[in-house]
Amino acid sequence: CPGEMFGSARRNSSGCDLTDPNVREPLLRRLAELEKRQWTGGEGNGTRAAIRSPFDTAQQVGEVIETSPSDLDSMLGRAAAAQSGWDQLGGEERARLLDRTADLFEDHREDFYSLCIREAGKTLPDAVLEVREAVDFLRYYAAEARRLAKPVQLPGPTGELNELRHHGRGVWACISPWNFPLAIFTGPVAAALAAGNAAIAKPAEQTPLIGALAIRLMHQAGIPADVVQLAVGDGRVGAALVAHRLTAGVAFTGSTAVAKAINRTLADRDGPIVPLIAETGGQNAMIVDSSALPEQVTRDVVASAFQSAGQRCSALRVLFVQDDVADTMLTMIRGAMEALTIGDPRLPTTDVGPVIDADAKAALDAHVAELRAAGRIVAELPLPANNGSFVAPVIAELPSLASLKDEHFGPVLHVIRWKSGELDHVIDQINATGFGLTLGLQSRIDTVAEQVARKARVGNLYINRNQIGAVVESQPFGGEGLSGTGPKAGGPHYVARFATERVTCIDT
Ligand code: NAD
Ligand code: ALA
Repeated sequence: CPGEMFGSARRNSSGCDLTDPNVREPLLRRLAELEKRQWTGGEGNGTRAAIRSPFDTAQQVGEVIETSPSDLDSMLGRAAAAQSGWDQLGGEERARLLDRTADLFEDHREDFYSLCIREAGKTLPDAVLEVREAVDFLRYYAAEARRLAKPVQLPGPTGELNELRHHGRGVWACISPWNFPLAIFTGPVAAALAAGNAAIAKPAEQTPLIGALAIRLMHQAGIPADVVQLAVGDGRVGAALVAHRLTAGVAFTGSTAVAKAINRTLADRDGPIVPLIAETGGQNAMIVDSSALPEQVTRDVVASAFQSAGQRCSALRVLFVQDDVADTMLTMIRGAMEALTIGDPRLPTTDVGPVIDADAKAALDAHVAELRAAGRIVAELPLPANNGSFVAPVIAELPSLASLKDEHFGPVLHVIRWKSGELDHVIDQINATGFGLTLGLQSRIDTVAEQVARKARVGNLYINRNQIGAVVESQPFGGEGLSGTGPKAGGPHYVARFATERVTCIDT
């Protein structure tokens, strides 16, 4: 058990059992009440912006005040001034406040479910998973704060007392995407705080209200207001945060292009060398050989490609299926896809909700139009008659991976057939994309699993299961190459990367 290995006796959140009608029915009534609520976020002298639901842009969820340049400057000044006191508070006390935040997140789970559905277009099961993961990050990183707070006595031949301690670096900028608006918003902030840093948290412009509630609860838990603050706005606010002289580290999750832009800014900044932790996109594949179980492949492909409307960095984009079973597998996958319900995420019967906004829909629609013009579409669901940003799940066949250059962040599954004897070539094609996030393998042959595990350059390999939903602490998550810098979120090396290490040597 990794928890025991690294000294934590924590359990992951149990979430909410939606199969139990005694849980589900009162929850649905509560969510209906919460639909009328208007939320707010942000403060200062910036402009006001309305936040609308991706499934129906006529619905306003709330309003935010965007962070102006002068407000951002003052926030960073206050955070930098508060950081040393927070660091000196010690790992145990910081952990207590993170644990208390986790309790408050659980107490407010219905508010978060409602916001995840209304602001981010998540289905209720996805909203439940979102809150669970955020709570798990808080509790796991709290345990890590306790572990890292203990000075490490270093062995060796010097005859001196050599001791290593972890300290905060200063103020971390934690810039997050909209697709995990609570979990990935919370994880890096919790890690920065656990390691003794102050944090400025910038949620994606599409989902600031979820971030605002999370920060309010951190303050309510007792984390000082200057130690963790919310910056609201789009990429311009993120860029200003990265460029600011008081930003001592950047934890970014989002697209590869923005990670590279941040890297360039940091390289050009005067003053200290600033570390970047970047978790980015993927061109994730699944390899299916002729020994795989068709029912299992069907279930796992549909979950990996279409759950969360395909808007997971881990989601399956390219299915490599061995040609002698391809027709059978595709018939079954197509049948399972056609059984999905696409539509309003407030309805418990919905499997696939909207994509995040009109821009995301336009980009996906353009890609699907290209596939259609090239005669590649083999199956497609009809669109619902809703007002929002919906993209119907699609399956398209491609001759090779060469034509697929970018990550298409939505419910589009590309299929490529391969022949017996070509497994190495398949892995080479996957490696050649330069991305290295998730890979699925469906095979009952041990030597195939060994071959893939040995050769594939990916961060997370999933064998005979779906390839989404990594579990904090048990399945540390993150990629390599174009998919990110590491360390893995929810893993034993993550929090330490937000800290600086200091060694004291005493001649005894
Ligand atoms: P994005 O890169 O457009 O935006 C991410 C965040 O960066 C947002 O908060 C945005 O406002 C901010 N930003 C934009 N331009 C910036 C700049 N120049 N400087 C600083 N900040 C800037 O990504 P997105 O569309 O919000 O998210 C989807 C992407 O995130 C996909 O590529 C997905 O694969 C990736 N993702 C990766 C992981 C992972 O763990 N590897 C997890 C979730 C999402
Ligand atoms: N950690 C998320 C997943 O595994 C991105 O799906």
